[in-house]
Amino acid sequence: MRIASGRKRVGKIIRHCDKAPQTSLTLPLVAAADADPASLRTVDEWLATAAFDTPPRDGLYLTADSKGLALCRAGRPPVSMRAEFLRGAQGFRIARQGHQREAIARACGIGAGSCPRVVDATAGLGRDAFVLAATGAQLTLLERSPVVYALLIDGLRRAGSGGAIDIVSRMTPLHADATQWLRDHGANDAPDTVYLDPMYAGRRRAAAGKELTLLQALVGQPESDADLFEAARATARERVVVKRHRRAPALAGVAPDYQLTGRSTRFDIYRASGGRLG
Ligand SMILES: C[S@@+](CC[C@H](N)C(=O)[O-])C[C@H]1O[C@@H](n2cnc3c(N)ncnc32)[C@H](O)[C@@H]1O
Repeated sequence: MRIASGRKRVGKIIRHCDKAPQTSLTLPLVAAADADPASLRTVDEWLATAAFDTPPRDGLYLTADSKGLALCRAGRPPVSMRAEFLRGAQGFRIARQGHQREAIARACGIGAGSCPRVVDATAGLGRDAFVLAATGAQLTLLERSPVVYALLIDGLRRAGSGGAIDIVSRMTPLHADATQWLRDHGANDAPDTVYLDPMYAGRRRAAAGKELTLLQALVGQPESDADLFEAARATARERVVVKRHRRAPALAGVAPDYQLTGRSTRFDIYRASGGRLG
């Protein structure tokens, strides 16, 4: 791997939240000649990177090309992921939504005449949040990993300029630790629904499993999501929704009030104490 001459960039990490996590992670960046300048600005703004002109032999690195920013893992087979909202599986999911309301929307209390304010406290690459925003819901997306956050805002920018500006404009991404953010927003500004999709080490679909492995290599497996879950339950006015693998144990061992179970995924729904959910 060669460092591209004169291209080393060490960006600053800007925080929207006073208590956002620190990071000392520096990832190699391989930028193609046709890299979208907006993707490179996102990298500069959010991440510490060192620019190279060829991919490393092993480990994680970022690429920027005309399709946007991607996180990659060198090796065999190479794996990569980017936030992609309008093509592939996610594009199909959005197109299908016109015919069939997804279980996630029902779980979050979105329906005829009901459009709750939702906080997606584990935003990741924003796929679930995009589906919810496509139904008309207003969402705040919280993501604590600066790398995942940079991928997310790069994907949202591309989706906005690719014809989905109405959906994207309902999504407010914030780089923040959700446990702290929720504790700070309990009093006057509490959301109706808090949605959680924490990392789960169990089985997932093969394709999703590859991306999950990549995400885990980047952010690690949290020791416990109990604090986040507790902060969500203390903050939500109406409900907390937890996405789990169909056979996974309930988050923090707390049985939900009810569940919506699909082929591979389950949504556990917890009524907020004193909330409006019947
Ligand atoms: C399984 S992914 C979520 C995937 C997402 N639902 C989607 O549709 O793309 C979990 C994400 O939650 C983030 N996360 C975990 N704990 C968090 C916390 N306390 N605050 C903010 N983000 C958190 C991780 O960095 C990771 O990106």
